[in-house]
Amino acid sequence: MKALILSGGKGTRLRPLTYTTAKQLVPVANKPILGYVLDHIAGAGIKDAGIIISPETGEDVKRYVKTGSDWGLKARYILQSEPLGLAHAVSTARDFLGDDDFIMYLGDNLLSRGVKDSVKKFKLERPDALIFLKEVDNPKQFGVAQLDKKKKVIKLIEKPENPPSNLALVGVYIFSRSVHDAIARIKPSFRGELEITDAIQELINMKCKVESEILDGWWLDTGKKDDLLQANTVVLDEYIKRQIKGRVDGRSQVSGRVTVEKGATVVNSIIRGPVIIGKGAKIKDSFIGPFTSIGDDVTVTGSAIEHSVILNNSDVEGVERLEDSLIGRCARIIRNQNRHKALRLMVGDDSIIEV
Ligand code: G1P
Repeated sequence: MKALILSGGKGTRLRPLTYTTAKQLVPVANKPILGYVLDHIAGAGIKDAGIIISPETGEDVKRYVKTGSDWGLKARYILQSEPLGLAHAVSTARDFLGDDDFIMYLGDNLLSRGVKDSVKKFKLERPDALIFLKEVDNPKQFGVAQLDKKKKVIKLIEKPENPPSNLALVGVYIFSRSVHDAIARIKPSFRGELEITDAIQELINMKCKVESEILDGWWLDTGKKDDLLQANTVVLDEYIKRQIKGRVDGRSQVSGRVTVEKGATVVNSIIRGPVIIGKGAKIKDSFIGPFTSIGDDVTVTGSAIEHSVILNNSDVEGVERLEDSLIGRCARIIRNQNRHKALRLMVGDDSIIEV
């Protein structure tokens, strides 16, 4: 079995962060989302990974994944020149996929568990598609499945106006070669894309075997700021261990599951886990509260931060309280020393500032 990992697209819903990076490379608990995806692919014993990239962010993705050897994978890059849909991405990868079975994994989806058991199930039962479903509160934003009384999938609709259920299609799919025949029969959707959801519906119409599994663990589609903060919370809660590789001085208190990476320093501060502090970060005279990810080479001085994500190379100085915030790379948030009532801001396009 091969893997097809989708790491293209424009990431419009996560701007401004995605002006300078691919949405799949936005870190959760200091690790790019794509890294968790590759962990899952490798964990299922797959060796060949085709990675769909876009002209805008492809080079960044290549710089992160390289040959794939960090994961024991052989990575091959496939350029999708325009974001014409998930089924279009599969067609673009046809040479790489050949007639093999493959798992398609959207590079911005995070799952609580790996895909090893599902791959095993697919190999044993040999359906034409194995899809994953999860109950959601906002089904209109996803592909949605309708099941019959025996839990068999009878219908799939992309972004429905009137969802027939609250079961969303998770961005992980396992296919046999039949999916290529189904893709050849579908037309672009209302949003001008060749939808994988329509291709799976076509498999049903063609009387092919479409199986589904309802996910029991969590699933996060890291599309927007709040999703990303939620992903950060869930991942820190589940994965962070107490590991102090950096330097913590005697005046600091570090309690709970806190990772302080190599080269990071904590001086006269309180850190309450789960928290991760990246390589080379400097925390001084500050409080870092639960569910916070501090990126590499970030400095936090005289500030209190909780339930937030601060990406690499940013500075936070003299800020009384920062909560539920997502701060991009190389940003500076500094309290005006003159204690002016007025705010002085330099804010990039598409930023959101709540004061
Ligand atoms: C895509 C799929 C949708 C699926 C979702 C999962 O949506 O088209 O069926 O539910 O991924 O993340 P998109 O991210 O393209 O809006």
